[in-house]
Amino acid sequence: MAKITASVYTSHVPAIGAAMDLHKTHEDYWKPLFAGYDFSKQWMKDNKPDVVFLVYNDHATAFSLDLIPTFAIGTAAEFQPADEGWGPRPVPKVVGHPELASHIAQSVIQQDFDLTIVNKMEVDHGLTVPLSLMCGELDPVKDAWPVKVIPFAVNVVQYPVPSGKRCFALGQAIRKAVESFDEDLNVHIWGTGGMSHQLQGARAGLINREWDNQWLDQMINDPVACANTPHIDYVREAGSEGIELVMWLIARGAMADVNDGKVTGPLPTIKHLFYHVPASNTAVGHVILENA
Ligand code: DHB
Ligand code: FE
Repeated sequence: MAKITASVYTSHVPAIGAAMDLHKTHEDYWKPLFAGYDFSKQWMKDNKPDVVFLVYNDHATAFSLDLIPTFAIGTAAEFQPADEGWGPRPVPKVVGHPELASHIAQSVIQQDFDLTIVNKMEVDHGLTVPLSLMCGELDPVKDAWPVKVIPFAVNVVQYPVPSGKRCFALGQAIRKAVESFDEDLNVHIWGTGGMSHQLQGARAGLINREWDNQWLDQMINDPVACANTPHIDYVREAGSEGIELVMWLIARGAMADVNDGKVTGPLPTIKHLFYHVPASNTAVGHVILENA
């Protein structure tokens, strides 16, 4: 049986990828940010999963205003890093797990979540920056990512976006799906994006440390209440791009036993917790939770 043993949460700021690609991680501006991921890279080596189910958002790269899937699962054998304006990032191609992805699509759709199935897609910074942060710098040709990845794209760019409650429930369906896959696979689920940031308009540059930290605490310790946060709270408190945080609730939902709307069973173990301002225009949050 496949099993979700851990979840990872991290911001996905594109400038972090650029800092790695241009070898600037030792610069004073970046040092404290990358120091927050030293533990994580070692943890990733010590707890290497077979597959990462990577929840992220596409930033009008593979999709556009022509086509806006709310939830899209990548079932392809591989996914190339996208050109977002400066050429594709110099990182290895992303290798998928079509068998597990197809099984999850079947199971989750039968649990009444209407996923879009994507057999061809390029992946942007939303997916490759979290991989770089957790796996370190790799040669695009000689190296390979140490894990297979199932990309799972969520629309948090164009309204209407899915609610935190829907995302949390979807996470539970994904867990059921993984646990009904026959092969023994160690699966991690990642929730990415956030935390507070706003890239445009009158409030561009907004950061809200107090709200971010309250949200982090509630996401870990009372995820049902956290999932009930209305989307307008994200926008008001964490800025227009703060809504990316609903993706963390998919990963958290996959780590929760819920009965009658209440979490039962032990809370996951917090292996790592990191918060840093600023990275580009964003407050960076990062958590690693292991299943108790
Ligand atoms: C930034 C953050 C994002 O989440 C993003 O998708 C693009 C840019 C930033 O802080 O610059
Ligand atoms: Fe983003």
